[in-house]
Amino acid sequence: MLNKKPYYLSKTKHKLGQTKIEVCPLAYGKIIIKSISGSVCINGIIFKINYNFWLVKVMETRIWRMKADNPDLNKLKEAAQLIKQGETIGFPTETVYGLGANALDTEAVKKIFLAKGRPSDNPLIVHVYNLKQVETLVTRITPLAQKLMNKFWPGPLTLVMPKSRIVPDIITAGMDTVAIRMPAHPIALKLIELSELPIAAPSANISGKPSPTTAEHVWQDLKGKIAGIIDGGKAGIGVESTVLDLSTKIPTILRPGGITREQFIGEIGVVNLDTALHDLKATPRSPGMKYTHYSPEAEVILLQGRKEEILNKIKKIISENGNRTLKVGLMISQEIYEALPEDLPESVIVGVLGRRADLEGMTSNLFEKLRWFDGKKVDVIYAESFPETNLGAALMNRLMKAAGGKWI
Ligand code: TXA
Ligand code: MG
Repeated sequence: MLNKKPYYLSKTKHKLGQTKIEVCPLAYGKIIIKSISGSVCINGIIFKINYNFWLVKVMETRIWRMKADNPDLNKLKEAAQLIKQGETIGFPTETVYGLGANALDTEAVKKIFLAKGRPSDNPLIVHVYNLKQVETLVTRITPLAQKLMNKFWPGPLTLVMPKSRIVPDIITAGMDTVAIRMPAHPIALKLIELSELPIAAPSANISGKPSPTTAEHVWQDLKGKIAGIIDGGKAGIGVESTVLDLSTKIPTILRPGGITREQFIGEIGVVNLDTALHDLKATPRSPGMKYTHYSPEAEVILLQGRKEEILNKIKKIISENGNRTLKVGLMISQEIYEALPEDLPESVIVGVLGRRADLEGMTSNLFEKLRWFDGKKVDVIYAESFPETNLGAALMNRLMKAAGGKWI
């Protein structure tokens, strides 16, 4: 098994005359020199030195801009070439932006973990552009898997299947299954095709932060640590793919996402939900689901109840913060916003997700709004909760994770 710490490159000691330099190269954007100690002789004078310091190693992060529906082949070839050379590239998908690297190259995949600060026991999704690639990555494609691929691929569905031997352990965190998805984004598909490789890609954010839905978000989190970012505008769905485990007798949703439970039921009749999705004490079968996620700087607290109850709770919050010591964010629907008093104090910052009936719109705004509140430097974000039907299940899953289970 791999250990749980982030990856460290080897610690090395160099000798320069009498001077010892201890180098601890973590990654781009991190430390390269830890300490220098000893003595140097300049013009016959001996200087004793003993420094401990950090230097930041920065990489040039290139940006390629193009329209989502009109991928620029020349620019994509440059990005694909960097993938082939073992570098990491941020790219748009229809769900969120991903941070891609050659899935078959352990050293390249290590760079993903390093740039994100991702724990090594959290496996990655491998992205493909055709079924031939899938065949090389799994031991067998069952008729059920085939049916789901035909129906939902390319699209926001990740299938967990028994892995073949070519999939490195670093991708699966030592497990014998691999998660695979074919994204429905012209840029992502072309990038995979041009790189002629399966591409491992988690969401392109610092681990624990809200997933990126624009290239700007990727830049904020990873500039100087990755080789490039393909800017293809805003990612459409705004939350990640549904992770569906096909290694169980009845397929199990490990993470709700862009394809809903209702859509599966319509197609294959029955699916289970991982118990950990509703029982906070259970261990999730998807390792990534056990970590705190999607957290802005501010504390997030969910507001539960019907419209009137939520309005009353908000009024209470505002009156209890009468001396304005806290800067309070309200992440709410248009309906709740319209029912609020007009003369809100300046210490209250309102971010509207959209109309309650427009689940797609609200979901696509969620991560952007969480980052927006960070920019406003609020101390706490009170977030409205929504029914968990259709895409609402994914929306509420991300909100509950962002809130770390805190609600009133
Ligand atoms: O929409 C998405 O899925 C985005 C875009 C970039 O494709 N990617 C994404 O990757 O969300 P990431 O790494 O942020 O989330 C992957 C999730 C994690 O919860 C991880 O634990 C789970 O998939 N996962 C990966 N391999 C798995 C496996 N073999 N078994 C169970 N869960 C797995
Ligand atoms: Mg993620």
